[in-house]
Amino acid sequence: MSTLLDNLNWRYATKKYDAAKKISATDLNTLKEAVRLSASSYGLQPYKIVIVENPELREQLKGAAYGQTPITDASHLFIFANDFNLDAESVDHYMENISETRGVPVEALNGLSDMIKGQIAGLSSDAKNNWTSKQTYIALGTLLSAAAELKIDATPMEGFNPAAFNEILGFDKLGLNAAVIAAVGYRDNEDDTQHYKKVRKPQEELFITL
Ligand SMILES: Cc1cc2nc3c(=O)[nH]c(=O)nc-3n(C[C@H](O)[C@H](O)[C@H](O)COP(=O)(O)O)c2cc1C
Repeated sequence: MSTLLDNLNWRYATKKYDAAKKISATDLNTLKEAVRLSASSYGLQPYKIVIVENPELREQLKGAAYGQTPITDASHLFIFANDFNLDAESVDHYMENISETRGVPVEALNGLSDMIKGQIAGLSSDAKNNWTSKQTYIALGTLLSAAAELKIDATPMEGFNPAAFNEILGFDKLGLNAAVIAAVGYRDNEDDTQHYKKVRKPQEELFITL
């Protein structure tokens, strides 16, 4: 059984995928469940994760991502799209979920609801977009760790044109913005990158203990 650190050493940002190898339905479900369980501020999950399987759509997206081949060749493409219109209604929806899940009256959540709504109302649209897109990176991190545990390869990617992605995927009318993406699948044996040593700052440089 691999440990967490073995898995994190095993994973790498895969550059070349074996297009013939697909993730099983069971593993895909585990990855989705891991992403679903990610932490988010207040628990709001102000995003959607769009999984693109359609080959034609992925070909178009590759054109808007500097031709990066993982976009088309990996088994699945995850698009982490933040909710740039996050509003009071989204908070109400979340309160209903808490109420149903925990069996508490929704009125008992008014204090929490008002506090979150007040915080959101105080944000400019740029600040809101920034805050909700930051939440997507936590979900991305969870996906990367979960994939490594399943020995599924993944490539986190910011190298794409978000405006073009939003256009291709029709995100504007859904109030979504493509924040960050990840290709997941299985490495091509000939991807030399898999043999590169990990380059990371030593702990003494990375951590400050006060
Ligand atoms: C948010 C984010 C965006 C990234 N964007 C790209 C990208 O567009 N294309 C790519 O090949 N790698 C991309 N990477 C991969 C990084 O270059 C890689 O994670 C880093 O060099 C460390 O290497 P490792 O992940 O293989 O250990 C990205 C990584 C992160 C976390």
